[in-house]
Amino acid sequence: MTSAQIRQSFLDFFASQGHTIVPSSSLLPDSPGLLFTNAGMNQFVPIFLGDRAADVSKWAGVRPAKDTRAADTQKCIRAGGKHNDLEDVGFDTYHHTLFEMLGNWSFGDYFKKESINWGWELITKVWGIPAKRLFATVYSPDKSKGDPSEFDQEAYDIWAEIFRKEGLDPKVHIVHGNKKDNFWMMGDTGPCGPCSEIHFNLLPSDDETEGRKGVNSSSPRCIEIWNHVFIQFNANADGTFSPLAAKHVDTGMGFERVAGIHAVSKGFKDFTAEPSNYEADVFAPLFAKITALSGKTYGRTVPTKREGLTEQEQTDVAFRVLADHARCVSCAIADNILPGNEGRNYVIRRILRRGILYGKKLGLQTGFFEQLVAPVVESLGTVFPELKERQDIVRRVIRSEEESFGRTLDRGLQIFTKAASAGSINGAAAFELYDTYGFPLDMTQLLATERGLTVDAAGFEAAMEAQRERGRASQKKEIVVAATEGEATALEATKFLGYEDTTAHGKLIDVIKADKDTFLVFDQTPFYAEMGGQTGDIGTALINGQLVHLTDCVKDKAGRHLHKVAEGSPAFTAGATAELSVDLTTRRAINRHHSAAHLIHWALRKVLGTHVRQAGTSKTADRMRFDFSHFEAVTHAQLLEVEQLVNAKVIDNAKVDTYETEFDQKPEGTLAFFGDKYGKFVRVVDIGGYSRELCGGTHVSTTGEIGLIKVVAEMAIAAGTRRIEAVAGQPAFNLVATREAALSAVSAHLGGGASDVVKKLEALLAAQKETEKQLKAFQQKALAGMAEELAAKATTRDGFKFVSAVVSVSDQEVLRSLGSQVLAKLGDGVVQLGAALGDKASLVAFCSPAAVKAGHQAGKIIQGLSTAIGGKGGGKPDFAMGGGKDIAKLAEVLGG
Ligand code: ALA
Repeated sequence: MTSAQIRQSFLDFFASQGHTIVPSSSLLPDSPGLLFTNAGMNQFVPIFLGDRAADVSKWAGVRPAKDTRAADTQKCIRAGGKHNDLEDVGFDTYHHTLFEMLGNWSFGDYFKKESINWGWELITKVWGIPAKRLFATVYSPDKSKGDPSEFDQEAYDIWAEIFRKEGLDPKVHIVHGNKKDNFWMMGDTGPCGPCSEIHFNLLPSDDETEGRKGVNSSSPRCIEIWNHVFIQFNANADGTFSPLAAKHVDTGMGFERVAGIHAVSKGFKDFTAEPSNYEADVFAPLFAKITALSGKTYGRTVPTKREGLTEQEQTDVAFRVLADHARCVSCAIADNILPGNEGRNYVIRRILRRGILYGKKLGLQTGFFEQLVAPVVESLGTVFPELKERQDIVRRVIRSEEESFGRTLDRGLQIFTKAASAGSINGAAAFELYDTYGFPLDMTQLLATERGLTVDAAGFEAAMEAQRERGRASQKKEIVVAATEGEATALEATKFLGYEDTTAHGKLIDVIKADKDTFLVFDQTPFYAEMGGQTGDIGTALINGQLVHLTDCVKDKAGRHLHKVAEGSPAFTAGATAELSVDLTTRRAINRHHSAAHLIHWALRKVLGTHVRQAGTSKTADRMRFDFSHFEAVTHAQLLEVEQLVNAKVIDNAKVDTYETEFDQKPEGTLAFFGDKYGKFVRVVDIGGYSRELCGGTHVSTTGEIGLIKVVAEMAIAAGTRRIEAVAGQPAFNLVATREAALSAVSAHLGGGASDVVKKLEALLAAQKETEKQLKAFQQKALAGMAEELAAKATTRDGFKFVSAVVSVSDQEVLRSLGSQVLAKLGDGVVQLGAALGDKASLVAFCSPAAVKAGHQAGKIIQGLSTAIGGKGGGKPDFAMGGGKDIAKLAEVLGG
């Protein structure tokens, strides 16, 4: 069987058992707790939890059968979070960052008996894996460690019967495992349960006692190929487990492992050769490409340690790393996880940079990684069509990343080598490599390990923290937050009324002094405190008959709104009641910019693609800026399209809906941001049904209120991150008015109306060009005349014609040209000219070849002349330039 046939045979087998075959879900998980989709079951979590009906046969694009049974091949990335295999990739032959997980699921339908028996049938009867080589693990909790649930007697009995039927001893073929090995969780929370794994003895001999020893021993000669999880619990954030209403099955088979073993063992028959996932034909196009690019040969060696590798071991690790990382990075980008600076995006950048480093070890040049996309598409494009559809974007993203890292890699490697000569890499060096040369810490660690060195990771963290601290200190507002941090937990958050009201009564409960500033805290307030990039409200408070201006509002860690008091205000003590009023004009202007930011986000995703994600944002009364992931400059035409789209939506005057819902109940397509900690309840801002974001900010109630949106600027702010600045409402009108005034002034100068200003300007420019052409011709003629005159005055020195003079010209270029024309007229000889240009003197000298031969040197001449006029200069024997500040001496030194 080919790899494709193995995959297909798995799916067909489960289809014949009534399973609906569904497509792989995206690598971008719909769960804020996960970095990447890390298991086939992720997309079914709501079904397991009972939040969604088991309805798979109605999903789009599926091969439908039963609603309660599903099977698929799922792209998974395990490179961070609870499941992380990144460090092992390349050094062994059976861990990957990206792999396919073949799986079958029961949603409250069949349970252990069917799952295990079907599994056995498929691998031993359909595929012909020898039963004698297989071992099953069952859950046996270690109660001394507080493992949950009970010994899985049910699974044990099912396995015992299977092995007995095969004439094999269950005591030898069943291995017990505690929570570490036999209780599967997708993360710290979520559906989970005891599991039963199938391990495959790959030793040359099928001796059962030896085979059993390999189970869970990290031996490449005995690996787990299929995990059957019996989902019965939900792991809660506090570490407890709640039973679920129904019992489910979740299985996952390592596709590359099975395909690799199949290839090496010639169809599960001959186990003499060393097993390796990389022998599966899905890797073949990648290995072929790496060989073609590097001229090196893959030698199948596997190092036993991490330092002091032989050259062939280095090469083979690099082949495996590149093949793995190219698949991972390509699939991630195709699923809109672009390399970036934070969270999952930074993981992808790290993987890509690691790949580039390994490419360098193979002698590959910047730009090679992009070429690995084609073989990835060749091997996976039909299974995961998004890869084929988006290959162009994938290539462009990788190209831009390679170019930017390529600029610092070599220099970084030099810095590393220098630091390494000290015997270990200190925190400061690791941080410099990270901060200036883009070396992720794990990459520096990798380089250090190869040399048997260590990296001071704690020192790196300290340097990182110090930088964060400097960043915080530069923001005064944060100082206030820190000042109240110690007591924060005991304090109650301020009740925010500002979504509905802009005036309200509040009881003054605290007065905080920080530096020179004073902040008032009320039990409730309509003032929005700076959050999510939206600036804090300003306004007034009427306290004890005195009007106080509030110039800002920020939040502390306890969620209290701190209202900043204008300088020179009277002192207050807690207890008074205040009449709080938000400055409406300012708030409305902020609202416009906030809603405009949502519209621009929506339009950017429409125009540039759905890889666009918010990376940072700021909304004030004057303007908004929106940072987003994108790999190249946004063209003028694209910006125009964005402007047109958003302004069409403004004219449309759509309703802006805001409401609270449970995170899991948010409507499909709602944009949420990884890294943001969302509680159970979230606030959705829905503009016209097309733009939906989780957002706690304040907005216009209909888009028409925005008035007008104008993009002011677009720029790069970091590799893979762009920024758009825009204005809305009054500032947008002001911008247009200013531009129009400028246009009017220009057209008045040109003598015409605004409508024909372009035509007039074009005519003017054409006329200027013509004048310049004529002037040049005139100057050329004049120059030729001057050259003629100078040549006529030539004297003779050392048997050569000699011209030395001070001339009057417009610039250095003309001076040079004049000198060369004089020499041309002389035929043979030496020319030295000087001219006052502005407040400096310039000099040129020319020597003909014969003069040079006779010992004259333009460079030397200029050196002497320049020194004499208080400057310097030099050049070649035939031509040199120089100058000095002593204009007055020009005539004297040139004897003119
Ligand atoms: N979800 C289970 C795993 O990933 C099958 O091992």
